[in-house]
Amino acid sequence: MTTVHVAPANSVQGALHLPGDKSMSHRALLLALVSTRPVRIENLALGEDVAATLAAVEQLGATVVRDPENPTIVTVTGVGLRGIQPPADGAPIDCRNAGTLARLLTGLLVGQPAGREFTLVGDDSLSSRPMARIADPLKALGAKIETTSRGTLPLKVTSVGELTATVPFELEVASAQVQSAILLAGMFANGRTTVVEPAVLRDHTERMLKRCGVKVHRRGLKVSVEPVTGTFELPDTFIPADPSAAAAFVTAATVLHGSLLRLPGVLEQPGRRGFVDILEQMGAHIAVSNRAVVSGEPVADLEVKHATVSRTFIEVEDVARMIDELPLLALVGHFRRGEFVVRGAEELRAKESNRIDDLELAFRKMGVSFQGLKDGYIVRGSSVRPDGGRMDAAGDHRLAMLGGIVGLVSRQGVTIDNAECVDVSFPGFFDVLDAIAVRA
Ligand code: S3P
Repeated sequence: MTTVHVAPANSVQGALHLPGDKSMSHRALLLALVSTRPVRIENLALGEDVAATLAAVEQLGATVVRDPENPTIVTVTGVGLRGIQPPADGAPIDCRNAGTLARLLTGLLVGQPAGREFTLVGDDSLSSRPMARIADPLKALGAKIETTSRGTLPLKVTSVGELTATVPFELEVASAQVQSAILLAGMFANGRTTVVEPAVLRDHTERMLKRCGVKVHRRGLKVSVEPVTGTFELPDTFIPADPSAAAAFVTAATVLHGSLLRLPGVLEQPGRRGFVDILEQMGAHIAVSNRAVVSGEPVADLEVKHATVSRTFIEVEDVARMIDELPLLALVGHFRRGEFVVRGAEELRAKESNRIDDLELAFRKMGVSFQGLKDGYIVRGSSVRPDGGRMDAAGDHRLAMLGGIVGLVSRQGVTIDNAECVDVSFPGFFDVLDAIAVRA
């Protein structure tokens, strides 16, 4: 167990090179696995989640060459769209803590030539997360998938070759992982596969498939993929900075007087911009410049200064666009007057931890008035910094990062137990905090 103490700071200052986006890193590796041309990926996320995907694509037949001077650059030589073979030694694919890996990979495995058997396992946290949400729609396409009776990992796929296109899938949960698993499987169907989303989701899979030449059409919240019969080639891909990692620093800079942080090249597609959008509505000072398109995704430089945040209302439809940032948003809510309410976020209970219960436990210990609801939370704002104290990251990297930011903005600092899980998405996070914290 690693325990980390983060002392209070007066402000945060500096320019940050953030890790490459985790969601895009998983997708780039998985699509490189089935690409017929070698793919150079730059600025790959180096956390444990993406390391699990790198190991999985190697286990499934891809060759990965790492740049000896820069570990964020890899060249992946894949096996083609229908070339995934089970590992020769019969070993299961260990998805470790990575839900995105388990769910998206399953979408690629189901349509491999008939009769190939793959088993997916994960750590304790992933093994308690719901997999029926992907298994059920994929089975409706004719896939052969077995899970435990609770609908969890281990998950066994017996590939069937061609899948059978069916009526549009109306997603019950606003999950990009489920949408992506269906779209990926749709490439192996005998007709068009359509997903109807309940809200705007991150659409990295759709954008990346288009770059591979796959026919993907969107009309509002309805997205369809056509079967792929020809070659499948992912062009070289640069992964922009992760907006979920950026959110931690945007929070610290907004809350602490005298702060000025520059965050270059942050991914800012609508499906990931929910947190920045809501902070802007609350009066945060976030200057956006150098808008560009990188590997099919909009990116921009952000410059964040301290601001006094005010009331706002969060639409339920916007929750999915900031789902991973909701723990940080609760902390922002502490710094504004009155009650700050988030509803429609029951999904928080199905993440790396039960984020509603675990947040309540952590915040109570740190002097933030947080009340968990069945599908969200209420935070009662205060005019002073939270006390700080001691919390357990509960094996959840987003809670570990939250603890670090509460430490900076608190009166006494925060001691975080089991802080090593931060490595899932952001190794070196606590060093970066120290580098930007002004404490003199
Ligand atoms: C992700 C989608 C979200 C998010 C997760 C990454 C993705 O999960 O919480 O961290 O890469 O598609 P859901 O799709 O289950 O909401």
